[in-house]
Amino acid sequence: MHRKNYCKEHEELLKKGVTDFKDFLANTFQYFSNENETMTKENEREKSSLRKRADRIKEFRCKNLIVVLEDPKDPSNIGTVIRNVNALGVDKIYIVDSRNLLAKDWIEIKEQKSILASSVSAVKWTFVKKFKSTEECIIHLENNKFTSFVTSPHVKGKTNFILHKGDYTQKRLAVWFGKESIGISDLAVKHSEACINIEMFGIVESFNLATSTGIVLYEVTKQRREFQNRKKVIKQ
Ligand SMILES: C[S@@+](CC[C@H](N)C(=O)[O-])C[C@H]1O[C@@H](n2cnc3c(N)ncnc32)[C@H](O)[C@@H]1O
Repeated sequence: MHRKNYCKEHEELLKKGVTDFKDFLANTFQYFSNENETMTKENEREKSSLRKRADRIKEFRCKNLIVVLEDPKDPSNIGTVIRNVNALGVDKIYIVDSRNLLAKDWIEIKEQKSILASSVSAVKWTFVKKFKSTEECIIHLENNKFTSFVTSPHVKGKTNFILHKGDYTQKRLAVWFGKESIGISDLAVKHSEACINIEMFGIVESFNLATSTGIVLYEVTKQRREFQNRKKVIKQ
């Protein structure tokens, strides 16, 4: 029951003859505690249904797949990428944030209004780690034995291929996306195994950052899920 019903409730109490002020207070207190109880139960129900959903999709998530955003500047792009990452079952997102646009860590980023809104709350369910520089992120990935692929609308580095011709079933894979303005850095290209290109047939030079993550990650996660399923069948 909503608070606006409270006045109606009050009127009805008066009609019923609850004219004594003490009775009135006791009834009002009971009304609000019932209302709070209902709200808590509703919250708990919502939480438990989300938890159930999280458990159901667990086996479809792509383990050891990380998306790296290199210095994105638009919070709505960041939120949309987090939404894509979550929707497609990518494990985590790393963000190189040399401009320090994001809060200190995931706990605080989860509360950051611009990210919370643009990710439609996906940030609550998607682990975000931030790095001060591309170099720091590369060191972290290499120490953890990740293979890196960069993405670009242009030819970058020694090995380039079109999205659907690539193999994305490496044990640990990081897929990098560049800055909205100047694209992927030379340093990231140098430390990557290959550069992925989404074919384009229009006049524009590139896709929007968030759009490109949706297209690339659809193919990458599809391949990794098929691979995980094949491995499961062989084990059985
Ligand atoms: C707006 S674009 C950057 C455009 C920039 N002028 C450049 O030279 O890359 C932002 C990011 O989206 C990704 N991207 C955009 N179009 C792409 C394409 N056709 N193929 C692969 N990645 C693309 C890349 O990661 C790129 O760094």
